[in-house]
Amino acid sequence: MEFKIRFMPDDKEVTVIQGTNLKDAANLAGIQLKSSCGGAGTCGKCKVELAGKSVLACKTAVNQDMEITIPLDSRLSEHKVLVDNQSDVKDVLAGYQFNPIVRKLNLTLTEPTLEDNTSDLSRLLTQLRKEFNVDNAKINLANFVNIGPILREKNYQVTVTLVHLGDFSEIVDIEAGHSEKPPYGIALDIGTTTIAVNLIDLNNGNILDRLGTYNTQAQYGDDVISRIIYADESADNLKKLQELVINTTNKLIREMLKKHSLISKDISVMIAAGNTTMTHLFLGVSPKYLRLEPYIPAVTTLPPVKAKDLKIAMNSEGYIIMYPSVASYVGGDIVSGALVTGIDRQENITLFIDIGTNGEMVLGNQDWLVTCACSAGPSFEGRGISNGMRAMSGAIEKVEINPENLDIKLSVVGNVPPIGICGSGLIDVLAKMNKAGIINRTGKFNDLQNKRIRVVEGEPQYILAFKEESGNGKDIVVSESDVKNLIRSKGAVYAGIRSMLDMVQLSEEDIETVIIAGGFGNYLHINDAIEIGLLPDIPREKYKFVGNSSLKGAHLALISQEAFAQATPLAEKMTYLELSVGNSFFDQYVSALFLPHTDLSLFPTVA
Ligand code: FES
Repeated sequence: MEFKIRFMPDDKEVTVIQGTNLKDAANLAGIQLKSSCGGAGTCGKCKVELAGKSVLACKTAVNQDMEITIPLDSRLSEHKVLVDNQSDVKDVLAGYQFNPIVRKLNLTLTEPTLEDNTSDLSRLLTQLRKEFNVDNAKINLANFVNIGPILREKNYQVTVTLVHLGDFSEIVDIEAGHSEKPPYGIALDIGTTTIAVNLIDLNNGNILDRLGTYNTQAQYGDDVISRIIYADESADNLKKLQELVINTTNKLIREMLKKHSLISKDISVMIAAGNTTMTHLFLGVSPKYLRLEPYIPAVTTLPPVKAKDLKIAMNSEGYIIMYPSVASYVGGDIVSGALVTGIDRQENITLFIDIGTNGEMVLGNQDWLVTCACSAGPSFEGRGISNGMRAMSGAIEKVEINPENLDIKLSVVGNVPPIGICGSGLIDVLAKMNKAGIINRTGKFNDLQNKRIRVVEGEPQYILAFKEESGNGKDIVVSESDVKNLIRSKGAVYAGIRSMLDMVQLSEEDIETVIIAGGFGNYLHINDAIEIGLLPDIPREKYKFVGNSSLKGAHLALISQEAFAQATPLAEKMTYLELSVGNSFFDQYVSALFLPHTDLSLFPTVA
């Protein structure tokens, strides 16, 4: 039996069969609900209103026509995703030579005669060698089935699109006439939360367009672990996750193609960077063993894949190249970031750090590189926190607390009434609550009498915004357990940094530059991060932001064959430090569970 479900306030209606859950029905209507449990009914994020009652969409089956109201809080709302900073080509090239991995070459062949009767293909390959010094270019059947008519259409003038992939070059297109169109490439960043795409003009290396959106896989779990578990449940699930990421990527590509009056055949190469799980899922490779000891990826160095094998909206004979990974929790996104930041080409010691659910970091210089990933937990992304949210409209991103009366001034993304607090806001709040004496150095609330402090079910909370001031009619609070979660997260990141330093017997003063990457990085207030003991207390001018370095690295590999050739050696050069075994991580972690640290001498400008 079929029923009609109307979703408000969107006023969208879908027809579904009896038994479909409301989360799937909403999805069908194009409305995505929040979820971090993959629909297991445990996270409580997918709440919707049915006949005035709040129900979990994932656990409510359709059994009649229904009208559902979706509150703002439960929506995975669209927001601007960090696609890239205004990186110009020089900035991206970072000293590498401009030498793109795709070229379009205009050739004028001599016409055949009875005396000069070599085949069309040999004629083309000979000319390619003569004019452009290209030897032994490969070509697939699909690209020469029509070579006869193509050569003759414009009197033996043709344009050849040639892809250079390290040890081989391949002709991926032959067009009649001398084409003026540049070759195009796609740089793709496959994030657990967001997907970002840059369309690159490979004649000059510039970004022609950039677009980003949510990774729709998020409906099956917020973090990589829940997606690995979901993928492992059945072959269908694995396929579903792969289709979601490919469809989202294609949607972004098609939108850009349309806008610039291009066709999919104009794109010959895509370079993609993602964490190891995202890379596995993109290729449809089972990620099962990534989460089981001894944490082995199915593959780290990946051969180029034909676009037709993944059904990407580009020249089907073109190539998709994934950045190599280092280990289960240090992926191609980190290798890509390390390459574009040039950490492997400096004498000085650099710390490169990407803080998300995992804090992934690389320490080193031209001679050596160490890398590790610590599970920071999702709190910096606003998850697992009472009123946590991502950095989108309505998120508190900065606060000022008056130590006298504990009143608060908020900065909110989009200048709207607040509905929650994002990562940078949480770091700020933690620093300011500590300074104002609301909490002590262990994160415990001090016993204060104030209208902004209350105890709910035995747990103290600090009220950032009363319900009359908020955008969702609810109080926005930071509770003692939120504080403890944040302290655990920051402790893990700092302990990761210290463990790497211990491994190479260096100290914080030896770090010349700290490069912060990632969406979160762009909004991070360094002083707050140091004050809570998340980042080392070294001169602030040593800190730099790099934006979406994973996407930038993908861009770099498209426009420099030399840089592209470095990706695999760079991944292989990184020594992976497994924090769960035989090193100082646990001791470091325990010492870091204070604000800023048990050892105050490590934070001289804070203490
Ligand atoms: Fe419904 Fe988590 S409770 S998705």
